[in-house]
Amino acid sequence: MSDMFNKKDLKYYVCPICKSDLHLGKNKLICRKCKNNFRIIEGVPIFLTNKISPENYEKQTSYFDKEFSDLKYDIEPWQITYNKRMSDVFPKNKKANYLDLGCGSGYAVLHFSKKYGIVFGCDLSINSILRLKNICDANKIRNIKLCVASAEYLPYKKDIFDMISSNAVIEHVPNEKEYVNELLRISKRESVFFITGPLKFRYVNPLFWILNIINDRMVGHLRRYDEKRFKKIFKNKAKIHRIFYTGHFMKSIITLINLFLRNKYLSKKAEVYDDKLINKKYGANNISIVLKRKL
Ligand SMILES: C[S@@+](CC[C@H](N)C(=O)[O-])C[C@H]1O[C@@H](n2cnc3c(N)ncnc32)[C@H](O)[C@@H]1O
Ligand SMILES: [Zn+2]
Repeated sequence: MSDMFNKKDLKYYVCPICKSDLHLGKNKLICRKCKNNFRIIEGVPIFLTNKISPENYEKQTSYFDKEFSDLKYDIEPWQITYNKRMSDVFPKNKKANYLDLGCGSGYAVLHFSKKYGIVFGCDLSINSILRLKNICDANKIRNIKLCVASAEYLPYKKDIFDMISSNAVIEHVPNEKEYVNELLRISKRESVFFITGPLKFRYVNPLFWILNIINDRMVGHLRRYDEKRFKKIFKNKAKIHRIFYTGHFMKSIITLINLFLRNKYLSKKAEVYDDKLINKKYGANNISIVLKRKL
């Protein structure tokens, strides 16, 4: 078994509601200030609060709990590409603290656990986090610290992360402003953010509009992004360092074909095609933005 939550871990966490220090009880974390308790299940703290919108929680977890119920772990070519892009822009210092916010299947935390001392993963879906905990246990990975929490009410202390990734999460979060405030609160000065969201329709190939509209509704995308919107929400607090545009024509076609074929060779080819177009905004479907925190 990998490490259970222990007293030493308290130095990273605060109450997600009032941001006070927590105390360790029997299978729970206790906030003496706002009198909230948070369960610890299978060694993983569950920081769900009644402030989280119940409709959004229901929608997100009913979709993603199903997606993350399979215990088999197999990294996909697109996940390898994301890991490579993040590696290229993240600090090389082995002692750096890394968080993947909305970590889902955990491909990023599993990858970066080999490069950094401690890595953190958090997600709203209990299934995704407990599945990931089982994978860590089975593979004796002891440096990944997991918790269940909402991006709007994070349970981390301020100024602790050197880099944060959050891929395909921001568009699911009801309160975008709180998401940004929380990222800025928990990150150190000059830390690096790698954030991905769906690209605004005006840049997407019209051939894919209908499919994207259906998909957006199905998975609960609340909005789409472009460089201007990222600039607006981070104001003068973070500076854009790099932008990648992904999900171009060939990648989209192969992704559709692969819903039926599930052919890894084709998926790898799709990544090669897509990588050549990362600077091309028109015709893409996703925007990944690398930001450096300023203040
Ligand atoms: C499309 S998946 C992306 C997962 C992973 N980041 C990736 O790149 O594959 C969206 C993830 O965001 C999580 N999520 C949705 N709303 C969230 C919220 N408010 N706070 C934290 N995670 C959230 C979902 O549970 C799901 O795991
Ligand atoms: Zn509290």
